[in-house]
Amino acid sequence: MPTAIVTGGAIRIGKAMALHLAGKGFNIALHHHKSVPSAVIEEIKAQGVQCRSYPCDFSNLEEAEGFIEKVLADFDDVELLINSAANFIQENLEETQKETLTDTLQLNLMSPYLLMRDFKRSINKGMIVNILDERVRKHISTFGAYSVSKVGLKHLTELAAVEWGETVRVNGIAPGLILPPQGGSPDYLEKAAKKVPTRTHGKMENLLQALDYLMENQFVNGDTLFVDGAESLRWQ
Ligand SMILES: NC(=O)c1ccc[n+]([C@@H]2O[C@H](COP(=O)([O-])OP(=O)(O)OC[C@H]3O[C@@H](n4cnc5c(N)ncnc54)[C@H](OP(=O)(O)O)[C@@H]3O)[C@@H](O)[C@H]2O)c1
Repeated sequence: MPTAIVTGGAIRIGKAMALHLAGKGFNIALHHHKSVPSAVIEEIKAQGVQCRSYPCDFSNLEEAEGFIEKVLADFDDVELLINSAANFIQENLEETQKETLTDTLQLNLMSPYLLMRDFKRSINKGMIVNILDERVRKHISTFGAYSVSKVGLKHLTELAAVEWGETVRVNGIAPGLILPPQGGSPDYLEKAAKKVPTRTHGKMENLLQALDYLMENQFVNGDTLFVDGAESLRWQ
């Protein structure tokens, strides 16, 4: 059975992707940081596949650098890496704290960079999917360091697709309004949907459909699927 590595796999989007892949017969190497993954692991195993969890703080590059090696000590047929773990800190450029800048770039961009590099070096087949954000098309600086990290990750996605395309495809998914921010009000999605051209918010299944498409279509490489109802194309 092939194995998928999912970062940020204990909650929300990462968890949904891990469960979806388990349903398709993938063993799951589930990364988590502060969340307790035991319930998700049970749900995944209930689908008849193996699952092991790997705690790691990706704002620490030393930890990130040993991550793929740890997974490969347990699983020998890895063919998919999903980089979903990220922070989302609301500070515009002027407000940005040095710690925010360092943590955000290390967690959202530099750790995925190291994981991708090590996936290419040690696995050298299959696909990497980086979870981006529809904001990568916009110049809105309210989450300054976050936006810079995701734009950087999109560029990295494209560079890796060109350098590695012969053996490893690398693509991105740019979600729009899918889940409310953690701690958001119950009507957050409904209110925010008024600004999306479709006047709706997306559902988790829309992201999973994007993932399926990227997995199935072997000629798509270096692309980013915007699953955002065209929010990123809106003038303001
Ligand atoms: N939600 C949306 O609608 C939306 C829209 C656009 C883009 N996205 C992107 O989609 C991805 C998932 O979003 P989400 O809303 O599901 O995420 P989330 O709820 O904000 O969860 C953040 C994830 O990152 C992990 N994480 C946080 N700090 C970490 C650290 N220092 N080291 C390692 N892992 C760390 C968390 O792990 P633990 O829980 O184990 O601590 C958690 O799994 C992110 O890349 C996000 O930018 C989401």
